Amino acid sequence: MTGPRSSGGASSTFLAACRRQPVSHTPVWVMRQAGRYLPEYRELRSKVEFEDLTRRADLAAEVTLQPLRRFELDAAILFSDIMTPVQGMGVELEFAPGPVVRHPIRTDAQIDALPTLVPERDVPFVMESIRLIRPELPRGAPLIGFAGGPFTLLCYLVCGKPSKEFGPARSFLYAQPESAERLLDKLADAMAAYLRAQAAAGAQALMMFESWAGLLAPREFERFALRAVRRTMAALRSAGVPLIYYVNQGSALMESVADLDVDVIGVDWRSPLSTVRKVLGPNKAVQGNLDPAALFAPGEQLHRHIDAVLKEAGPEPGHIFNLGHGIWPETSPDAVARLVDYVHEATS
Ligand code: CP3
Repeated sequence: MTGPRSSGGASSTFLAACRRQPVSHTPVWVMRQAGRYLPEYRELRSKVEFEDLTRRADLAAEVTLQPLRRFELDAAILFSDIMTPVQGMGVELEFAPGPVVRHPIRTDAQIDALPTLVPERDVPFVMESIRLIRPELPRGAPLIGFAGGPFTLLCYLVCGKPSKEFGPARSFLYAQPESAERLLDKLADAMAAYLRAQAAAGAQALMMFESWAGLLAPREFERFALRAVRRTMAALRSAGVPLIYYVNQGSALMESVADLDVDVIGVDWRSPLSTVRKVLGPNKAVQGNLDPAALFAPGEQLHRHIDAVLKEAGPEPGHIFNLGHGIWPETSPDAVARLVDYVHEATS
């Protein structure tokens, strides 16, 4: 264990790496770092429903800060859910634990009836929790705000529940392409407003989670998912904070995202970062990409898997260490401590 490091303010390694500037050590944070693998999260969650955790600003702030107190993470991510703003648009759903939508959206009438999201009116607790979190962040670590990618949100809205293949959502693109575009445009505009409001409240970087666009063929990815993301990101450029786009199972889509106007591409574990960096070119930073399963490797073996990711990332600036997808609830917090400390040690 090494001494405390500054990850904050103007010297934030995370924000510098987003901008492809040189850093004193490779910054590291963990997707879904605020959640069920932490005993202190489970303790709080045993008393409070998940939805209430997301709607009470003080509790969402507390859960956001929990992993930062335990580990020397270089960034915090707001505790919320990708479906929270959609609930703000009047869509009724419950978390069981994944989102289950009461009336799946499949008709033009339903799409047209979706109201415009006004974040400070419809989900004020999100911005309130950002304002509570910022002054409490240890070591001045920056706060990442986030939203779901329009296509990923469409998957839940059209299917109505979590799924492996999201068949009804994918067939919707082929059966009702104009309706799909209408819905995606609405979601793209809503997420732009939502992310802008998060930045205005104090979020220092903005990330879009595109968890399910990797299910699409490149043509459909470009026509539907990416077109909507471009619309959101174009509206966010003037917010002045780094923009991150994460596509799960996106290996085959990297050529398509290379010219998306964002600072960082989040990469799952299925392709080596050296290959991805070649395809993306010198103007993008990358974030990733250790397999979440690697956190089950004992002792030194975990270090070797981390070394392999660092080696693939290469010496050029612009790498943020992360998992390739969210941490599993079964993971030991000790493994996260070893991950964070070793990334710092190996790169300083
Ligand atoms: O630490 C963080 O990353 C912040 C919190 C966060 C949650 N959800 C909390 C949560 C974030 C960034 C999300 C994003 C999210 N939500 C995504 C995109 C990221 C990804 O993993 O691909 C998706 C697809 C969802 C939808 C969702 N919400 C699912 C599939 C589930 C079920 C189980 C799970 O954890 O994946 C949820 C519920 C949810 N969101 C929980 C948490 C901590 C578990 C709820 C509980 O405590 O019972």
